[in-house]
Amino acid sequence: MKIKSYSILITSIFIFVAVLSATFYRTSDSPRATELFTNSWLFNLGDFQDGQNPSLDDSHWRQLNLPHDWSIEGRFKSETNKEDVPEFHVVKGEWKFSKGDNMLWKEPDVDEGSWQIVKLPSTWEEHSNYTPDNVYGWYRRELTIPAELKGKDIFINLGKIDDADETYFNGVKVGGMGSFPPNYTTAWDMLRYYKVPHEIIRYGVKNSIAVRVFDGIMGGGIYNEGEKIIEGPFESTCPGGSGAGYINAGTGWYRKEFKLPEDIQDKRVFIEFDGVYMNSDVWINGVHLGNRPYGYSSFQYELTKHLKFGDEKNVLAVRVDVQQPCSRWYSGAGIYRNVRLTVTDLVRIAHWGTYVTTPDVSESEATVRVETKILNQSTSARKVTLETVIVDEFGHEFASSSSLKKVEADSINIFEQFIKIPKPKLWSLENPTLYLVKSKVYVNGSIADAGDTPFGIRTFEFTVDKGFFLNGKHVDIKGVCLHHDLGCLGAAVNKRAIERQLEIMKSMGCNAIRTSHNPPALELLYLCDRMGFLVMDEAFDEWKKAKTSYGYGRFFDEWSERDITDMIRRDRNHPSIILWSIGNEISEQGDANAYEMSKRLVDICNTEDPTRPVTSGCNNPEAAIESGFSKPLDVLGINYQMSFYQTLKGKAKLIASETASAVSTRGEYNLVQDGDTLKIEKELNNQCASYDIVAPSWGNVAESTLKAVKSAPWLAGEFVWTGFDYIGEPTPFSWPSVSSYFGIVDLCGFPKDRYYLYQSQWTDKPMIHILPHWNWQGFEGQKIPVWCYSNCESVELFLNGKSLGEKKFCDTEDLHLLWKVPYTPGILKAAAKNNGMTVCTYEVQTAGAPFKIMMTPDRTEISADGEDLSYVKVEIVDQKGCVCPNADNLVKFKIKGEGIIAGVDNGNPISHEHFKAGERKAFHGLCLVVIQSKREQGAIRLSAESEGLQAADILFRVK
Ligand code: GAL
Repeated sequence: MKIKSYSILITSIFIFVAVLSATFYRTSDSPRATELFTNSWLFNLGDFQDGQNPSLDDSHWRQLNLPHDWSIEGRFKSETNKEDVPEFHVVKGEWKFSKGDNMLWKEPDVDEGSWQIVKLPSTWEEHSNYTPDNVYGWYRRELTIPAELKGKDIFINLGKIDDADETYFNGVKVGGMGSFPPNYTTAWDMLRYYKVPHEIIRYGVKNSIAVRVFDGIMGGGIYNEGEKIIEGPFESTCPGGSGAGYINAGTGWYRKEFKLPEDIQDKRVFIEFDGVYMNSDVWINGVHLGNRPYGYSSFQYELTKHLKFGDEKNVLAVRVDVQQPCSRWYSGAGIYRNVRLTVTDLVRIAHWGTYVTTPDVSESEATVRVETKILNQSTSARKVTLETVIVDEFGHEFASSSSLKKVEADSINIFEQFIKIPKPKLWSLENPTLYLVKSKVYVNGSIADAGDTPFGIRTFEFTVDKGFFLNGKHVDIKGVCLHHDLGCLGAAVNKRAIERQLEIMKSMGCNAIRTSHNPPALELLYLCDRMGFLVMDEAFDEWKKAKTSYGYGRFFDEWSERDITDMIRRDRNHPSIILWSIGNEISEQGDANAYEMSKRLVDICNTEDPTRPVTSGCNNPEAAIESGFSKPLDVLGINYQMSFYQTLKGKAKLIASETASAVSTRGEYNLVQDGDTLKIEKELNNQCASYDIVAPSWGNVAESTLKAVKSAPWLAGEFVWTGFDYIGEPTPFSWPSVSSYFGIVDLCGFPKDRYYLYQSQWTDKPMIHILPHWNWQGFEGQKIPVWCYSNCESVELFLNGKSLGEKKFCDTEDLHLLWKVPYTPGILKAAAKNNGMTVCTYEVQTAGAPFKIMMTPDRTEISADGEDLSYVKVEIVDQKGCVCPNADNLVKFKIKGEGIIAGVDNGNPISHEHFKAGERKAFHGLCLVVIQSKREQGAIRLSAESEGLQAADILFRVK
């Protein structure tokens, strides 16, 4: 690789090409230069007057490198979202309550004679035995605002209301969350924090507050006083509520100064953001370049006109505004994906301008169609030659094409080339072979631009009756849904962290990822292409009908066309993608205009990429079919609603786009004494049992979903909710729970027992797993339910060497085998057999007292690129080295050398410890520390200590 003589920037490594393919694919020498633009930014938490002003004194701002998520750091100012306005907590105390609904009750002078006096916070089931679902009720109280506040606005804190409310102050509406029927949505977990303008306040006297409440199901009313508890990065009154995992966001500013050499004054300069969450505004040297509301879209701005060269500094400023609640899950906040600066000539390949498809594929030959948009930004027409060469992963040239065209001044011309590849190697899950389109653009014989576009050659098909085929071979889609957060790293993208997620999923037998519910990081697609995963690439979680007050609904009308178009243009060369999804559980599914709305988006997908089918995850397939919502879809996505696997048989191409939502906590078995026997509590102390027995009302346990999918072979397969636990949405709980229970693995990536269920159904290599652990002091002689997962024919169980009998999978409908084993400490061992021969074994044994710390890194050598990671599993073990399943010792880490601690975690959904810290309590014997390299080669020494335990120490090489 040759580096251009004009070394552009003052900072960091200088690389050509799409950064992601730097080591594998290189473009040849061309005027195009791309630099990762992530080093040495300045950051201010909170809004900043005039933050875009180039001459602003930002010397006190914090210096950091991108990608960055400020939310996960938990250093928010507690009032990030609020102004300095007096606040009145009005929930606690006496209120008047009436069942029913009457809009006149909002007025200040209502006759409250027949109203009941109630004490809040309390649900109306509790204070009034008001138990039906789908009912209204009203609360009223008075509030005196001190005369000395005259002229000031105030906030009223109304705590949490189940489910939707409208709140009136002196008869004037001042707020409301959730929505009432017919478009009912719940906001049961949101803090009501409403601003009351001074114009409607009567100072020094009584004011009236009236709250109209609608309850869908379960508890109703003003049930929580909105008390603020701050622990670690979590705040109980975070406006994002449980969805956001009680982690605040707010507003933040980033700035970066840079200089450009004079010899590039005649070039074009662009800044490209892979994603900024959310509602970003970007300025260069004080000039506003644009606003981008959707936090998952990638976008670029041209900087050229406003730049300075030579010794003069340029200042790039980015304002990021995350008003919560904006999402049903933890979104993170900030410039959380990569940023690049690109310099090009005036004639160049347009942004996302190369589109590669393979219209004809056979064993003997593949036809590759390469569409290239060439842009001429000069003032006169240019004769442009486009040379396209296809190479394989070893750089062997296969075929090429050269085309000459005139491109008018200030316009784009589209080149279309067809290139044949003899005996193509197909991209498959087992052998994800990639090729590379190398494009070179010449003007008057000189090179003007070049670019590399990886692609794969494969065919695929969804069928109505037989499911999904890849390269003519039937493939069951064994997929998982993933949110984008990376556990203790928050939303800040990291390629190795994603790679590790995919490795863990792959060893479970998973072969597909649904990017729920938004366009993913480029790194994910890069890895899926190379590791052999199928991808369902999803655009939205909501359209115009909002699911959260500050979510995408606000932007849908203006931005949806642009956002979905950009998603497809960015992603359409990735062979891993087999489905575009226009949305998840869209609230308009059953509306009168559902057909028009879905058709518009499907049409965009088809225009931008006619080679892939379009789907949508429907949680109400019946309504979606009736309204016409599903008509334009190529593949109907069914979320839950398993009966539709059967009823829609033969009527459409189907995929179970979301399944299970089974919930469990790693290491929690919730065994409790029930009379003479033991029973498994589904939920106990905000933890769900790790036996596969718990799911919310709309979901199903993993076993029944697996069985339902298996018995409907016409389905293309399923996407389980979810592969990994994620921050936020701690269903079935709320505070103090902060992260999800849905994951097949926990937030650290440590497998829960369900992992082995999927492995037993999705892989062939003999495996066996039993649960629970074998430390049941106090339960001696009691019958412990022992579950076993295996993909072998039968399993024999032994307790302390004595056989407890052999059981066969063919004798049960279940996907697990069950023994009830009277507890005696010792070794419980299971032997899995095929044809009567033991092929693998697994054992759990009673651990003694915690004795020492054991650390097992997934890698002991990492790259000195400032990004690479090693995930270190930390176990509390007894003297024999057996993990202590109940250990919760606090482990303190020290790190020396060329690395930092990027995060710590233990997978406990109710832990309020910081993720960015040097210590962590173990949870069921385990915790995790993630080590990140600096930019220097050398060594890292990590040590771990805990009171009363033998310490541990490991060395890493940084190369
Ligand atoms: C689904 C939804 C997911 C997640 C899940 C939890 O209905 O699509 O985003 O909320 O429920 O069970």
